[in-house]
Amino acid sequence: MKNEEFRKYAHQMVDWIADYFEDIEKYPVKSGAAPGEIAGNLPIQPPLKGERMDDIFEGFKENIMPGITHWQHPGWFAYFPANSSPPSVLGEFLTAGLGVQGMVWDTSPAATELEEVVMNWLRQMTGLPDNFTGVLQDTASTATLCALISAREKVSHFKTNQIGFHQKLRIYTSNQTHSSIEKGAKIAGFGTENLVYIDTDDHFALIPQKLEEAILRDLDSGYTPCCVVAACGTTSSLAMDPLMETGQICQKYNVWFHIDAAFAGTAAIVPEFRYVFGGAELSDSLVFNPHKWMLTNFDCSAYFVKDPEILKQSFSLMPEYLKTAADEKVNNYRDWGIQLGRRFRALKLWFVIRYYGVEGIQHMIREHVRLGQLFASWVEKDDNFEFTAPPNLTLVCFQLVKEGMPEEKINSMNEKLLRMINRQGDIYLTHTKLNGKYTLRMSIAQRNTKQHHVEKAWEIITKAGKTLINQ
Ligand SMILES: Cc1ncc(COP(=O)(O)O)c(C=O)c1O
Repeated sequence: MKNEEFRKYAHQMVDWIADYFEDIEKYPVKSGAAPGEIAGNLPIQPPLKGERMDDIFEGFKENIMPGITHWQHPGWFAYFPANSSPPSVLGEFLTAGLGVQGMVWDTSPAATELEEVVMNWLRQMTGLPDNFTGVLQDTASTATLCALISAREKVSHFKTNQIGFHQKLRIYTSNQTHSSIEKGAKIAGFGTENLVYIDTDDHFALIPQKLEEAILRDLDSGYTPCCVVAACGTTSSLAMDPLMETGQICQKYNVWFHIDAAFAGTAAIVPEFRYVFGGAELSDSLVFNPHKWMLTNFDCSAYFVKDPEILKQSFSLMPEYLKTAADEKVNNYRDWGIQLGRRFRALKLWFVIRYYGVEGIQHMIREHVRLGQLFASWVEKDDNFEFTAPPNLTLVCFQLVKEGMPEEKINSMNEKLLRMINRQGDIYLTHTKLNGKYTLRMSIAQRNTKQHHVEKAWEIITKAGKTLINQ
């Protein structure tokens, strides 16, 4: 592609993205594509000869867009958000243009040093103590895997990396934990049988006493407690594990303490919500995702550790071809995680923080929490609905109820309700099960969501609810 052609299509596509942002409400939030439909419209074999960019772009609009679910739609109330924003897109665009592979400082000093700067900014923004150091990872899943491997290496005095598993190591986490903990336990070699699930209370938060009992039981049986993973905001209901008590137990038994704050960690940027990180100072590592609620397009996950030396010792390798003259004086982020090659993620994060400023980000968080509380107040007042978990920050877990109806029927009625409200295209919610109750999750944290979108969602939900109740 000649540079002039690149310039022409880059302009066209930026215009297309700007139009997309402007017109996003014209799309149904969730793609209606059937399984196989998108691939079925594409050639099985690759083109032998290069094609015209006009045709490729048309193909994108015609064949790819119908299979896109619109995460940037203000009617996005599903899962947790994966918010993008114009400054983030611009940063990402430059990252792609530069094509930097920042595996070591020497391969682009700015990539490493900007990452150091923005991670220090993020640490200050969330009120984490200054003995924490940050590194960007692709996802919370990867960060948690790094934590599990670091815990494994610390407890084995870095022997497991050399001779393989030789101790009976245990990991502890609540029964509400995210599936990435189980995946990490598998990949890091602990085995799922050594992942001990701890009971939760009626707010779905880990019960510290049960954790201590499990650790003591394991010590009695010859196991070595290695790591506790606590949630600062579970995926199902945004439950907050008691970080302070959990951290104190970890200190007492010399166990690595990792905090998974994938979504809710962003709340700590607002002083009045900083309590979510109360006790985080006791942790050895913590992850939260700017790619969820901090306006930075996927992927961008902030991983903080108290002792980077443990991380580096767990992951560092020094093949001859990677040695550089600067090694003694700089960070080589290839030693801070799993991958060697690294994207220049810090650039988009820098753009976002500079463009919105801390106050702009705080304003968005406060507004989302206000909308979450408003929605919760409507659920509370309506006899047709009940909370299935205490509402927290931006998440409301609820179900449609009917007096005298057995639980099984209530569950299938709510499954139907979810299908009905998602079918019409203006909003998209997803579900979970809490104490056996089929639960609708109203997660209000999309960048573009305004009060009128939440009001409309409530109208759609209550109307569909009434239809089902009266059937
Ligand atoms: C609590 C929690 N932990 C971890 C994850 C996984 O995040 P990632 O996709 O960044 O691996 C999620 C995703 O929603 C989550 O809610």
